[in-house]
Amino acid sequence: MIETSKPVNSLEDSNIQIQVKDCYKIYKRGEIEVVALGGLKCNFNKGEITVIMGPSGCGKTTLLNMIGGLDQLNSGQIIVGGVNIAKLSKKELEKYRRDRIGFVFQFSSLIPELTAEENIRLPLILTTGINAEKKEYISELLEVVGLTDRKTHRPDELSGGEQQRVCVAAALANKPDIILCDEPTGELDSITKLKIMDLLRKIIETYPEKTMIIVTHDPELRVIADRMYYIRDGNISHQFSKEEMEKMKANYNNTSTSINNISQNGGNYEEFLIELREIDHMVKAKINKIEKKIHPI
Ligand SMILES: Nc1ncnc2c1ncn2[C@@H]1O[C@H](COP(=O)(O)OP(=O)(O)OP(=O)(O)O)[C@@H](O)[C@H]1O
Ligand SMILES: [Mg+2]
Repeated sequence: MIETSKPVNSLEDSNIQIQVKDCYKIYKRGEIEVVALGGLKCNFNKGEITVIMGPSGCGKTTLLNMIGGLDQLNSGQIIVGGVNIAKLSKKELEKYRRDRIGFVFQFSSLIPELTAEENIRLPLILTTGINAEKKEYISELLEVVGLTDRKTHRPDELSGGEQQRVCVAAALANKPDIILCDEPTGELDSITKLKIMDLLRKIIETYPEKTMIIVTHDPELRVIADRMYYIRDGNISHQFSKEEMEKMKANYNNTSTSINNISQNGGNYEEFLIELREIDHMVKAKINKIEKKIHPI
């Protein structure tokens, strides 16, 4: 794993959409207390994908649930566009979840009896209702996720990757400004995974006013990240700034293959993995070199 000892939470630019401040979440089961978040702080920016990694049980899903307004903190603040969501009433939180949050999970959450298009419309039907403008937006979404010609298919008539595309589109139906993805590629084969990675990148580039957070165990998702956090025991242990990620991508772009090549033509996946490992190695060596300059002893 790549590591950097750069101090966490530096305000690198003013595009911050979400500020997580000193957040604690402690689960109690009988006598046992589990500290899922232990004073965690970090920021998330508009127009960016932040990828969060860390060992099982380190608090990744807990953090997403808190940002998504699905659970409540013991202490701390989560400030979204200037509002501390930890202070919202139940009703306000419901509205926040409905209007501002889109969730994408590892397992398909589609209704088997509905077509792709109906599944995408469902969040609207259940909340604000549908009108001509929204119908048009659903058509746009089908286009963005590349499923226009599959819109009348039911989930069991779609591949795993296509089903996940429908889930991504459904998460966008209410035009949320925050998209939270928990292991969005966890169940997919390697080529399909690359296609979903491409799609998530395309979404943030098509809708740069949105903020996307992806939790994963898969180091390959770094390829689409603008920023990265590593969590350990409920706290950020390391982070990669946008600048560091850009350097990593520049190195990657200089190499012979690109993510588009791989996902479009099936590509040489092994070669891609080797490149990723080489980049890891190169970036780590560079960081060590810089750190030695800053802290010579
Ligand atoms: N509802 C709950 N009740 C009790 N403990 C919980 C609850 N939810 C999570 N935990 C505990 O909090 C810790 C953090 O859980 P969390 O689900 O956030 O981990 P994670 O990083 O998402 O792990 P994974 O990678 O396996 O999904 C774990 O030790 C977990 O057992
Ligand atoms: Mg989890």
